[in-house]
Amino acid sequence: MAKPRILINLFHPNMNRSRGNIILSEAVRDLTGVTFRDVYAEYPDFNITVQHEQQLLLENDLIVTQHPFYWYSCPSLLKEWEDKVLEQGFAYPPGVGDKLNGKHWLSVITTGGPQNAYRSGGFNNFTISELLRPFQQTATLCGMKWLPPVVVHSVLPEGIEGFKNISNDDIQQHARAYRALLDGYVME
Ligand SMILES: Cc1cc2nc3c(=O)[nH]c(=O)nc-3n(C[C@H](O)[C@H](O)[C@H](O)COP(=O)(O)O)c2cc1C
Repeated sequence: MAKPRILINLFHPNMNRSRGNIILSEAVRDLTGVTFRDVYAEYPDFNITVQHEQQLLLENDLIVTQHPFYWYSCPSLLKEWEDKVLEQGFAYPPGVGDKLNGKHWLSVITTGGPQNAYRSGGFNNFTISELLRPFQQTATLCGMKWLPPVVVHSVLPEGIEGFKNISNDDIQQHARAYRALLDGYVME
């Protein structure tokens, strides 16, 4: 079976202060068949080139959105990207609206909060799956297959006291699993 063409769109407004997304990105950006993009670096003024973004979507099978979890959602450029790029007639009808049908969407997320905070009755009250439902339903409306997200919890800046903070070695372990997932991915 042919290897899928993979687009990784990284949305992080402050990569020079990142711990998690830096390690995750370095693990996957050189993989064969992967097009890796730092979308904030491309559009520091949020002026997204819609046609270019749509062309990249057309050219790939597995679309990865990688980002830190911000306010139980995403950094604002990803929302802007959705609003501009997933337009009617391209991503959904009326009009043709079928350009993304059959593609797969994988969310790859780092959170500051620990895993046990994301549950009913926990500090954040809801599971990550529940909080990601707007993304899941966006993928579904576009005819895409929503994959179980990759989530790395407890990613805080180094030197923060009093909170669970994952080590760089443990982030590397998640990064290796992320690489293996993409490397062995088959479209079903
Ligand atoms: C504006 C902002 C909002 C955040 N919101 C959340 C949140 O809702 N839940 C959470 O667990 N962490 C939250 N965090 C923590 C980030 O998710 C965490 O710092 C990031 O995932 C670490 O990844 P990085 O090392 O690549 O920056 C927030 C951080 C910022 C700056």
